[in-house]
Amino acid sequence: MKSLLAQLRDKVSLAVNAVAGDIEIKGSILVPSQNPKFGDYQCNVSMELAGKLSKASGEKVNPRQIATAIMEKLEVAEFSEAPEIAGPGFINFKLKQEALADYARQMLRDDRLGMAKTAKPERVLVDFSGPNLAKEMHVGHLRSTIIGDSIARFMEFEGHDVLRMNHVGDWGTQFGMLIQYIRETRPGALDNPESFEIADLEDFYREAKKRFDESDDFKDAARRAVVDLQSGDKATLAVWEVFCEESLKHCHEIYGQLDIKISDRGESAYNDMLKTVVEDLKSDGKAVQTEGAWGVFLDGYKNKEDEPLPTIVQKSDGGYIYATTDLAAIRYRFAEQKTDKLIYVTDARQKTHFDQVFEISELMDWAPKDSMGHIGFGMMLGKDGKPFKTRTGGTVKLKDLLVEAESRADILARELSPGLTEEEYKEIAFAAGLGGVKYSDLSHSVGTDYKFDWDKMLATDGNTAIYILMTYARTRGLSRKAGIDVDSLVDIESLPVGSEQELKLIKKLASTPDVWQGVVSDLAPHLLLNHLYEVARDFGSFWNSCPILKIEDEELKRSRLALAGGVGRVLKWGLSMVGIKTLDKL
Ligand code: ARG
Repeated sequence: MKSLLAQLRDKVSLAVNAVAGDIEIKGSILVPSQNPKFGDYQCNVSMELAGKLSKASGEKVNPRQIATAIMEKLEVAEFSEAPEIAGPGFINFKLKQEALADYARQMLRDDRLGMAKTAKPERVLVDFSGPNLAKEMHVGHLRSTIIGDSIARFMEFEGHDVLRMNHVGDWGTQFGMLIQYIRETRPGALDNPESFEIADLEDFYREAKKRFDESDDFKDAARRAVVDLQSGDKATLAVWEVFCEESLKHCHEIYGQLDIKISDRGESAYNDMLKTVVEDLKSDGKAVQTEGAWGVFLDGYKNKEDEPLPTIVQKSDGGYIYATTDLAAIRYRFAEQKTDKLIYVTDARQKTHFDQVFEISELMDWAPKDSMGHIGFGMMLGKDGKPFKTRTGGTVKLKDLLVEAESRADILARELSPGLTEEEYKEIAFAAGLGGVKYSDLSHSVGTDYKFDWDKMLATDGNTAIYILMTYARTRGLSRKAGIDVDSLVDIESLPVGSEQELKLIKKLASTPDVWQGVVSDLAPHLLLNHLYEVARDFGSFWNSCPILKIEDEELKRSRLALAGGVGRVLKWGLSMVGIKTLDKL
């Protein structure tokens, strides 16, 4: 099913091409009008075309004349009222009410809300979350985790085969310190790794670090532990393994809570490949020796002194680094995991790192550059615009943030909806609390910093999870009051177009597939949430001005209930795309 916009665009393209002939048009054929005064959509190509024709013929061509010529070729009566020319040569289209209502009705009863799966399914690997295992997950890991999950959901809905990968930091020198600390404080763990437990990873890390900073003997022992680990000493590896397992268990508790699926394949999994990666880079002449280390000089990378800056792949002591592991991972992902596309979600500061490894991978023919993308996100700030911290200035553990979100949502739910069961409050606290955390993150464009504010997150009005969830619950409440599931009315013959509010709401719903196209092509969750907000807002105006249950006209009542059902379907689908559960009561 093509969206109304797409169908109209096809028709307008035919007319424009008939006038343009061989001339290529750069601009969009049809765009939504900024002002309803000018109808629903506009075709603005007459200006561009007139300019090009003037140039070609040497005579001044008037854009309005071009617009008139296009108008003569247009066959859009099926969808649009008679188009009108405005200003210097815009052509304005106003959708016919019947066409709109008819399309919306078909779209709303479609299982996929009128959005076809991709014609070209691919294997897409989304690399997200990826915390470093030495510490517990903190708010700094939140964004990658929930943005990555949403992007994976988008790709899954599109029909791609998605691999959700957790590239955890489970290797490196920090493990020497931790292993040595385990050796000293949990001697039993060496013989019996199963017996070993860490109550609080954060405390554990802090204590180990303290000993590391205070004692030179400990420092030396920690260095030896790294060597033991890297040379494959069995007992050391066993302790390391238990430590990673324990640490991953914490991560997966959080993923479970957030309803996020992800498979672990950490840095250590690429250990055996690093040597070959570097050897191949060297033998290909891409990596060269630079100040004792090995690096690749890529075009366009300069240091402060404007000298060429290498991307280091092997340190002068022979050790490998973050970039080496990512190169090995890329090679593995394309060759072994048969990935077609690779999407990384990390904080924006890692952009250069990814630009460099993408470039090197292309140079080495491991993967084409344009099949890899990096989504860099901004920081999560506190209300005061400073990095989000606890009251005493510490890092906020993700676990604590989620507990607080639930308890705040629970308090709000009791205020908003008295008289529900304990079970229901629990469900609301969970959906609205965790959904609220996700929503407040995803409703901002990914690349910018955003301020996290509890009051804003739980606001009952505006572009918030609670507002959307309340709107959804309202559509469900209608079902209860009407004694009929509004969702079952999708086969209704017609939707109501009698009032301005109904028409506006139907238009908004009908634009969902077009909005989705933008969401997928830009991988931009905020565009989706903004749309859901507008749907909910337009539903609010409809609700305030069009009585639904208290009317005599049964047919009108049914069609209004069906419209409410459609709103519910779109909201539920949209929230599911960002991993937020809906609630029947709120
Ligand atoms: N562990 C990294 C960090 O904490 C994120 C890993 C991202 N994925 C990757 N393949 N580099 O910043």
